[in-house]
Amino acid sequence: MREIRFTLNGEPVSIDVDPERMLLWVLRCDLGLTGTKYGCGEGLCGACTVIVEGEAVRSCQFPMSLAAGKEVITIEGLSTGGELHRLQKAFIENDAMQCGFCTSGMIMNAYGLLIRNPRPSRAEIVDAIEHNLCRCGTHQRIVAAIESASRQKEE
Ligand code: FES
Ligand code: FES
Repeated sequence: MREIRFTLNGEPVSIDVDPERMLLWVLRCDLGLTGTKYGCGEGLCGACTVIVEGEAVRSCQFPMSLAAGKEVITIEGLSTGGELHRLQKAFIENDAMQCGFCTSGMIMNAYGLLIRNPRPSRAEIVDAIEHNLCRCGTHQRIVAAIESASRQKEE
């Protein structure tokens, strides 16, 4: 066990944890942030995507030793002042979900895309979410939602 400090959704966090424990389990089980989903546990589905230092990462493959001192953002940290982020609103407006299991991972991956490329082309959006899996077949609506959000004014 080791004390690891990091920033989570803008707040400092300190936790005694096995440095090899994956960030996904710390978020879900130790800190109660269940918006980040467990899909495959092998880095293959993207359901567990969060932002670390401005980049989308798969938290099921991200040991806590790498989180030390870093800024982590989860789906719970996207809204501000009770107002949903434009990506969250666009997913709702475009009906970009059915069961919703992939949704937070999709949104966090899209959030990472908009950080590095605020006005992505449709092809760039398709490419960015290619390896986030949706078993409900809503990829086209998800692409439309991300495109819509990217065309709105930045918050
Ligand atoms: S649960 Fe992490 S990629 Fe599937
Ligand atoms: S909405 Fe069900 S997995 Fe994507």
